Amino acid sequence: MMTLMTSLIGLGSHLAGWRHKDAWSGTCMNLDHAIHIAKTAERGKLDMLFLADGNAVRQMDKPILFASNSRSDRPAVFEPFTLLAALSQHTDKIGLFCTATTTYDEPYLLARRFASLDHLSKGRACWNIVTGSYAGDSVNFGRAKHVPRAERYERAREFVEICKGLWDSWAEDAFLEDKATGRFLDPAKVQRLDHVGKHFSVQGPLNVARPIQGWPVLASAGQSEAGMELAAEHAEAVFSVALTKPEAQEFYANLKGRLGKYGRAPEDLRILPGATLYIGRTEAEADELYEELQELILPELGVEYLSKFCEEDLTGYPVDGPMPVLSGEVDGMVSYRNAISEMAQREGLTVRQTYQRVVPSIGHVLFKGTPVQIADQMEDWYRSGACDGFNCDMPVQPRCLEDFVNLVVPELQKRGIFRREYEGATLRERMGLKRPPRRVRDARLAAE
Ligand SMILES: Cc1cc2nc3c(=O)[nH]c(=O)nc-3n(C[C@H](O)[C@H](O)[C@H](O)COP(=O)(O)O)c2cc1C
Repeated sequence: MMTLMTSLIGLGSHLAGWRHKDAWSGTCMNLDHAIHIAKTAERGKLDMLFLADGNAVRQMDKPILFASNSRSDRPAVFEPFTLLAALSQHTDKIGLFCTATTTYDEPYLLARRFASLDHLSKGRACWNIVTGSYAGDSVNFGRAKHVPRAERYERAREFVEICKGLWDSWAEDAFLEDKATGRFLDPAKVQRLDHVGKHFSVQGPLNVARPIQGWPVLASAGQSEAGMELAAEHAEAVFSVALTKPEAQEFYANLKGRLGKYGRAPEDLRILPGATLYIGRTEAEADELYEELQELILPELGVEYLSKFCEEDLTGYPVDGPMPVLSGEVDGMVSYRNAISEMAQREGLTVRQTYQRVVPSIGHVLFKGTPVQIADQMEDWYRSGACDGFNCDMPVQPRCLEDFVNLVVPELQKRGIFRREYEGATLRERMGLKRPPRRVRDARLAAE
């Protein structure tokens, strides 16, 4: 079965999505919109809702972009655990998935938050492990500069291991609550971690019972060499960035090929490229939505948006001149930068043509057409080793999610590639992922 997820943000994925006539108004900090998205996605039997995150107000140096409120820059948004905890009380089955950084957080605090969310949601928590794609966030954590990538990923791997160890603190049956004997818990069923490493010292145990899923589902999106190794070792879901099917197939084979090294099988990891969907009841309706949104992007805004994606100031280049070759390493979003640069060079695009391609799809593949045409494209990628499902971006909310659930999901169900009903007790089970057994550290306790 395909794995399908979508974003929780009411703003719509298109930069001008919020300005469209069918878009919601009053999207900033709107819990009712989040509940509507969550309930609609759950009606469509989607696997997960995703809340991206960062820890700063971004892009203030790009005044046009800043004032236009780009969704991925999140100038004013809910803190993810607070929002997901609220949504866990309005939904039953859909996975609740958010980003949390290993660079500017503490493993004990984060393990505790995810364990709590997993309990509150009855086994639906998922963590997008990021090392931080936006260098500017560092200034909110006592650092003038972003931690360099190699160190970020080294810290991330230690961080994730600690979280796993902390989630293993308690045996599932540690809390006896035996009224007759007065024993609330069994002290033999808890273990300390006693971790002392390069970046962290954490004694443990965690002061939350073992998560319902054992560990929350772990996901990541890094596409640098270090990012892919982190994913190969730990991730059970990965966002990928691919503009074409061959690129997606190459990434898929590459990443799945790395799992063996960590004793993992290909099915232990679901690869989910981002796909932006322009759905119409007719082809003309889909084209119309696409064109309406294109018209809402002024060139100055398009160029600033592209500059952000490419982490390069493109405002000095003629908008109808060739897109410059982007070289050198950046400390943030390598995946998008590379995909965009390669596309522009391959197709000989100008700066304007490049932003006109990037803005509608936020750097992801774009599927446009009738429900049947969209399902055809999704099925083609799914059946040809390019993905295990999709991270579906909806340009205008709530219109596009509703169209997806009402029109495209039934088409995927008819083809037998997407569930008709939720099965399994937890997100992990619904995604076909194994439940991690508790790793008992103390041989004496294990024997008891
Ligand atoms: C779909 C998608 C969602 C992402 N969400 C976040 C996010 O919420 N917060 C963040 O800091 N980075 C996010 N990233 C960035 C990645 O975590 C990663 O830093 C980026 O792809 C660059 O890869 P690298 O870290 O291996 O260089 C996202 C990337 C993708 C493709």
